[in-house]
Amino acid sequence: RPKVTIRTIRRMAKQKEPISMMTAQDYPSGLMVDRAGIDTCLVGDSLAMVTLGHDTTNPVTVDEMIHHCKAVARGCKAPFLIGDLPFGSYESNPEDAVKVALRFVKEGNVEAVKLEGGKEMAETVRRITTVGIPVLAHVGLTPQRQASLGGFRVQAKTAKQARALLEDALAVQEAGAFAVVLEAVPEEIASYVTQQLTIPTIGIGAGNGCSGQVLVQNDALGMFDRFVPKFTKQYANIGQIMVDGLKKYHEEVKSRAFPAKENTYPINEAELARFFE
Ligand code: KIV
Ligand code: NA
Repeated sequence: RPKVTIRTIRRMAKQKEPISMMTAQDYPSGLMVDRAGIDTCLVGDSLAMVTLGHDTTNPVTVDEMIHHCKAVARGCKAPFLIGDLPFGSYESNPEDAVKVALRFVKEGNVEAVKLEGGKEMAETVRRITTVGIPVLAHVGLTPQRQASLGGFRVQAKTAKQARALLEDALAVQEAGAFAVVLEAVPEEIASYVTQQLTIPTIGIGAGNGCSGQVLVQNDALGMFDRFVPKFTKQYANIGQIMVDGLKKYHEEVKSRAFPAKENTYPINEAELARFFE
């Protein structure tokens, strides 16, 4: 596969070709994103919930995220690779944010970083972009701020909030973000915001008018069912396939159907005879 670069993304946006993005959190999930031909891959901090079992995305640390980024990068070669800056690592000041972004690129082997926020993060987006790291912004439902939003819920439902969303998206574009994620906003609003921007929008729960779409891989493949957002779509039921396979293994161990002859190593007859003599 040819490498997807930021220029590929810009060309797709210009030609109105939808951009596909999928999350990954380890070597195999990254490898499958690459093999499936998906354009861009996000090591999302949603891995805190779907891979590490936390209740929110907030507990995951920079070191943990970098550990996952490294693993994804070993398998995911052609897609443009983006790492998600975790809660608490970039909000305090742009200086710290630049340092964390540099670590994601140097140690995590990602090509770009994502951060949540609009206007209030514009200076940070600018600073990270200035040192040569492309930034994907994220507005609308920003899961890291779920406490102040009152949970994981749809955003921009009022005209006032929708206007604020547009201003946030324009602010991060102005600051140099190469694209912006719109999460959990009504389709009409997301479509309008997309039309007003020159950078691509990547929607999740934002309807069909965005420049691209992203889903969390564990949701899309049926590997996480503790919390299923309305906007997700399950394309496969890998969780059930895993349980079926594991059950069969368990039964075969109990019945001694496994391991069979073909799963065992042979030994030369003469050596065996010598061993027992
Ligand atoms: O963490 C994540 O997976 C994300 C995407 C859903 C955009 O932020
Ligand atoms: Na995220």
